[in-house]
Amino acid sequence: MNLRSLLFVPGDRPERMEKALGLGARALILDLEDAVAPPRKAEARRMVADFLATAERRCALFVRINPLDSGLSDDDLAAVMSGRPDGIVLPKAEGAASLAALDDALARGEVLHGLPLGGIAILPIASETPAAVFRLGSYGGVTPRLAGITWGAEDLPAAIGASTSREEDGSFTAPYQMCRALTLFGAGAAGVAPIETVYPAFRDLSGLAAFAARARRDGFTGMMAIHPSQVPVIEQAFAPTEAEITHAEAIVAAFAADPGAGALSLDGRMIDRPHLKQAERLLALR
Ligand code: COA
Ligand code: MG
Repeated sequence: MNLRSLLFVPGDRPERMEKALGLGARALILDLEDAVAPPRKAEARRMVADFLATAERRCALFVRINPLDSGLSDDDLAAVMSGRPDGIVLPKAEGAASLAALDDALARGEVLHGLPLGGIAILPIASETPAAVFRLGSYGGVTPRLAGITWGAEDLPAAIGASTSREEDGSFTAPYQMCRALTLFGAGAAGVAPIETVYPAFRDLSGLAAFAARARRDGFTGMMAIHPSQVPVIEQAFAPTEAEITHAEAIVAAFAADPGAGALSLDGRMIDRPHLKQAERLLALR
């Protein structure tokens, strides 16, 4: 599943869901959590279920349920499972145990609704509570449903009493830079895609472009969006360029021509196995 761009849509805005299908995002995240006020949760569940049942599947459809300890997530899943979402986004995820718990719940729902076992993916938001930060390395080997790992910089400051996660220029303060880095390495350790968090200033597209470019440089392979105008910027930022593809193909060709070689020379530079690995990863992102 290609998760280069994922667009959040509030679960109680059906007209926005319909519109969002045609915006070029690889996935939509139909939100039942923070974008929906408590009195509207039940109505949002029905709206998301209706949309899943009828929407033309032009991109992957994820549902963000409420946290597992909220008392709401069972009803969220009960409402949306029959609509066969492509994946569930799990907010306030706290490592392997929460992943295993959702894996079980999804398996029960799949059996109940006669869906293919294991067909529904999971994308945890894995840095939203203090405890979660210490479990970012624990997501591997739990379930093949794990499609990636993403993080959030909005809920954790509230949870620990910090006033913000950002410097005045929009960059992250040190504690949140650490969460971002642990997400990258946690996803790498689990062998899944690291997905960059949202850029809340949705009118600032040049700021978004710079933010997404740094994310890609650091190894993230996709990013979440909150507004339609962010989708093309994200798509472009995470797409390998023609020059990168040509260079990667040259590296792969050089090793293919000389399979026994450890190190080789290409255009006057040494290339060795890590370069081959990097080139293969880049080509896989096309
Ligand atoms: N999905 C689909 N369509 C969206 C959209 C979204 N997330 N956000 C905006 N649009 C549409 C609007 O319906 C509007 O369409 P129209 O021109 O046909 O009327 C158009 O894009 C322009 O919207 P705009 O006026 O610029 O935005 P807004 O001020 O109405 O809304 C937000 C701003 C942030 C409230 C809105 O973008 C949004 O709801 N984002 C998602 C929030 C969310 O889910 N948060 C939870 C995760 S952090
Ligand atoms: Mg949140």
